[in-house]
Amino acid sequence: MKIISVADKNEMSGRAASIISQLVRRKNDAVIGLATGGTPEGTYSKLVEDRQKNHTSYSKIRTVNLDEYVGIPRDDPNSYHTYMENHLFKFVDLPAGQHFLPDGNALSLSEECRGYDQMIEELGGVDLQLLGIGRNGHIGFNEPGTPFDIGTHTVELTDSTRRANARFFGSIDAVPSQAITMGICTIMKSRSILLIVSGENKAEAMSRLLNTEKTDTDFPASVLISHPDVTVIADAEALARTKKKAGKF
Ligand code: F6R
Repeated sequence: MKIISVADKNEMSGRAASIISQLVRRKNDAVIGLATGGTPEGTYSKLVEDRQKNHTSYSKIRTVNLDEYVGIPRDDPNSYHTYMENHLFKFVDLPAGQHFLPDGNALSLSEECRGYDQMIEELGGVDLQLLGIGRNGHIGFNEPGTPFDIGTHTVELTDSTRRANARFFGSIDAVPSQAITMGICTIMKSRSILLIVSGENKAEAMSRLLNTEKTDTDFPASVLISHPDVTVIADAEALARTKKKAGKF
């Protein structure tokens, strides 16, 4: 795991965007796994700035998002479809048929999950998966206790995750109770992973992750120590409780 320690969220966003835009320029048909939430917003703004300044083209890129809520309309202001549209898709030349998110309104959620993993395989797998981390160590919506060997699936969101996301919905009661998420097995098949972390509310999770010596399903992000190509970009607040180990970062 390569750790890049940066001053603040702005620097984290710039470094992450530059890794993504370099990939887009180097491999113009790359498959990029995307995340939502508060952490990647600045990364997407920087990608949009780069598109406007440098005309980086996304015309052959394919994107697959980590997750989507179950049971809210696709055009709901809080759906991840809407989030992606507003933060990235409407600003870049990525054709509509080349970005994919799970359908949280599919008639058969289990078919949708199976089909999502199959679609990722048919695209040739993910070159770079962008991740955030939950305070409880979740990645995607893989909550503590999720086995590491399952693919895309439907999850019941924990109270802590619903509380954390209530800031977008106005109240915890408005937060859906279920989501579809890429499984840990799906995430781990990505050829490379970029985890971005900002803020003191992630300091505990970062300390746990960076001191992890063995994987543990109670702390889903711990699985990342067994992936051969993970880069973590974390800001000073997120690293505030991590003891710097010699040579680690
Ligand atoms: C979002 C996702 C989640 C978030 C995590 C952190 O697609 O899969 O794992 O990355 O909940 O969320 P923020 O960035 O809002 O703190």
